[in-house]
Parts: sequence; structure tokens; C-alpha cells
Amino acid sequence: MNKKAFIFDLDGVIVDTAKYHFLAWQKIAAELGIEFTPEHNEHLKGVSRVRSLDLILELGKIEASQADKDRWLVQKNEDYLSYLVHMNYSEILPGVMPVLQYLKEQNQAIALGSASKNARPILEKTGIMEYFDVIIDGNDVSNAKPDPEVFLQAARKLGIANDQSIVFEDSVAGVQAANIAGMTSVGIGEHNILHEAQYTFKDFTYMDLSFIESLIKK
Ligand code: BG6
Ligand code: MG
Repeated sequence: MNKKAFIFDLDGVIVDTAKYHFLAWQKIAAELGIEFTPEHNEHLKGVSRVRSLDLILELGKIEASQADKDRWLVQKNEDYLSYLVHMNYSEILPGVMPVLQYLKEQNQAIALGSASKNARPILEKTGIMEYFDVIIDGNDVSNAKPDPEVFLQAARKLGIANDQSIVFEDSVAGVQAANIAGMTSVGIGEHNILHEAQYTFKDFTYMDLSFIESLIKK
């Protein structure tokens, strides 16, 4: 039997939290007088909280003390968490559940590979923790995407080779990380942004289960 590792990013792949990260960063940027657009935000997707702040400060050519940075990092996370208070099953993106259920039926290995330190509470709130055999998140890694550490840890923990692993990602950094790891990269989003991915789908509703079947058999 073919057993593959299916590794899912969280924000922007399973749940629509990418928009909340954006809103929380935009608020900080506005306070600092920095223009921060959805285009700028593409560079922050998949990137750790600390690195994201540095990128925003670079954008505004602002040099800040560590104390200020620490304060903004706390502020950003508190603001972000305030969007998650009412989060539940309904915020799982369309098309995701049929794929997770199909993978379970096919006895495939499923992992979460997220840069977020808030990943576990989100899985709990949405009630889908049980689908994941392995969870690697921002608390487990020291190198942020595009470094492949998060995906390499996930595959290793599942006991599945990198070239037998498939990554679903909505970020450029995450697609690059999957490619560097020697895994199959599946971009979830716009092809013009995620053109480095081996496959791209606008969202999971565009993905037929026969595609997943073909990945299992590959
Ligand atoms: C990634 C998001 O999944 O997690 C980034 O795409 C975010 O936008 C990163 O900065 C870290 O998340 P958190 O929840 O630890 O701030
Ligand atoms: Mg993401």
C-alpha cells in the first residue's frame, strides 16, 4: 500500500486566518505611519511573527529598540487573538474537510506544518485536531519558512521520506520551503503568486479527489 505524508499549512490553507494576520499587522503599520498593502502582505505569509515585524519596519525604514519591538509583537498577537475568540468549525475553508476525510479513509499520514505559535488553539476551536497524526508549529522550529525545517520535522516524525511527502501551502515562502525539502508542493491560491509550486489550485473546492488519489499512487 502507498502511504504518503500530506502536510498542511494552517493559516490561509485550512482556515481563513491570513486575513486576521493582515489586519493586525496593518494596524501596527498604520500606527507607525507605514503604508502596508495586500501586496506587501504576500511577503509576510508563512513568515514568523518576529520576522514579519522586521519586514514591516524595513518597509518603513524604521529602526526600533528591542523594547519597542517586543511591545508591538505582543500588541499584534493580542489583536490577532481577538479575531479568533469566536472561531469555530464554520471557519474551515471550503473543500478542506472532504480532503481530510478522504485522506483518513485512505489511511494516509497527515501532518500540520505551520509557522504559527497559535496553531494548536485554532485546531482545538475548529475541532479538527484529531485528523492530524503529527503537529509541528512555530513553537517547535527555530528556522522560519522558506527554511524547510517545519516540513522536514513533520515528515521525519511521520517516518515518511521527503520525496513521498506532499505540502499544501498558500505562501510563497512555504512553497519554497517544500521545494527545498524535496517534497511535492501544492499551492493554494493564485497561480501568478505561487508559480513556484508544482501544482496550484485557487482553493480546495477546485481540487478533485482524483488529484489526491493520483498523489497517493505516484
Ligand atoms: C503563519 C502566517 O502561518 O504564521 C504568518 O502565515 C504568521 O502570517 C505566522 O506571522 C506566525 O504566526 P503567529 O500566530 O505565531 O503569530
Ligand atoms: Mg499560510
